[in-house]
Amino acid sequence: MKPAVLDLGVALPRYALDLCDLASARGVDPAKYASGLGGVAMGVPAPGEDTVTMAASAAASVLDRHPGAAADVGLCIVGTESATDRARPIAIEVHALAGLPAECSVFDVKHACYGATAGLHMAFLWVAANPSRKALVVAADIARYGIGSAAEPTQGAGAVALLLGMADEDEALFAPWPMTGTHAAPVHDFWQPPYLREAVVRGRYSIECYLDSLAGAYAAWLRNGGLVEGSLDRLLFHSPFPGMARKAHARLWELSRGADASGAADDFARRVAPGLAVNAGVGNCYAAAVYLSLAGLVEAEGASLQGLCLGGFSYGSGSCGEFFGGRFGRRAAAGRVGLAEALAAREPIDVAGYERARAECEALEHDGSFREDRTGAGGRFTFLGIRDHVRVYR
Ligand code: HMG
Repeated sequence: MKPAVLDLGVALPRYALDLCDLASARGVDPAKYASGLGGVAMGVPAPGEDTVTMAASAAASVLDRHPGAAADVGLCIVGTESATDRARPIAIEVHALAGLPAECSVFDVKHACYGATAGLHMAFLWVAANPSRKALVVAADIARYGIGSAAEPTQGAGAVALLLGMADEDEALFAPWPMTGTHAAPVHDFWQPPYLREAVVRGRYSIECYLDSLAGAYAAWLRNGGLVEGSLDRLLFHSPFPGMARKAHARLWELSRGADASGAADDFARRVAPGLAVNAGVGNCYAAAVYLSLAGLVEAEGASLQGLCLGGFSYGSGSCGEFFGGRFGRRAAAGRVGLAEALAAREPIDVAGYERARAECEALEHDGSFREDRTGAGGRFTFLGIRDHVRVYR
């Protein structure tokens, strides 16, 4: 038995905005978003949805499939950069809404899109030390940039909950290998100053930072005994937009095989594309993006994944990158983590509706916005607004 991912749960925001509609509204050639960035649609939260409601829905969704498991959870970590408070973690709201026990360690981890990966490290070690208990790590974020900015089509939102426990490698959904490769660099490629509503991003530079981090993390992975990337059956990359994963694959290919790119397109289609398809329809969800790809891969390939080796790259601006790997087990073969249902439950929204929903979400972020009868979130949990400085959820 070893620490492993037993199962996954997914939550997506209520609305999906077609990027062709956004391109038309912004006077941009739709081909730029579709083939330049690789995006199809982006998730848009409804008023009454926030990082907490999505994180709690993802957690409830995975716990529903494992009756009794909630009582065994002794560690609840949320990896996020969409904090709702500077002191109070999102994890304590998830703890309450998902009905976790009082004997539970509960906190958030922040490092841009890398937070959940850092949380998973801690959780695997904790599970090894507490083999009779389970841990819940939730990656949840809302990616928000300025209206009309170059980064606007790379927005999105979502949450993925990972239930961890001890399992036989063959039984788990995914059993990680202990070695990873990390790379840190003090860069200012993307950050969220507390006095601004939207992220500051140096777009082109951030792509260079990401690719440098990938090269550094992969070199560390090899030094630490990781398999050469060509021996890995599937690859996942943090996907702020699918074109970034394409660039990451090309960089990895060049690092291991040199400048000859013949065969790279087929390799991308076989090893990367199956997990990436979902990101094209959801957009960036920061900490959750690479784990959304994991969920997408499990639902896309199911039974054929059992026994296959996965390599993944998690990147958080600022920056910290990590190359990790492991093997899929029998649970992956079930191929059901609730993603298809979450995608099917979404409603299309037009550009005017998206701008309105965004303004209403912002209006809810102020004391006195509480309304008992608030509806509109559509999901399992609703953020009713703020009353006496307390965020209230139903
Ligand atoms: P931009 O300036 O609009 O785009 O910004 P561009 O002009 O560079 O064009 C983008 C691509 O579309 C290019 O392809 C163009 O050639 C192509 P490439 O050369 O890169 O392969 N293109 C077209 N294709 C077809 N038909 C056309 C057409 N026109 C152009 N007519 C950028 C793009 C991604 C920089 C912007 O959207 C942005 O700033 N996004 C946010 C930052 C980001 O996602 N960075 C990624 C790396 S950092 C990261 O992943 C961390 C992050 O997730 C945060 C965290 O860690 O918390 C962001």
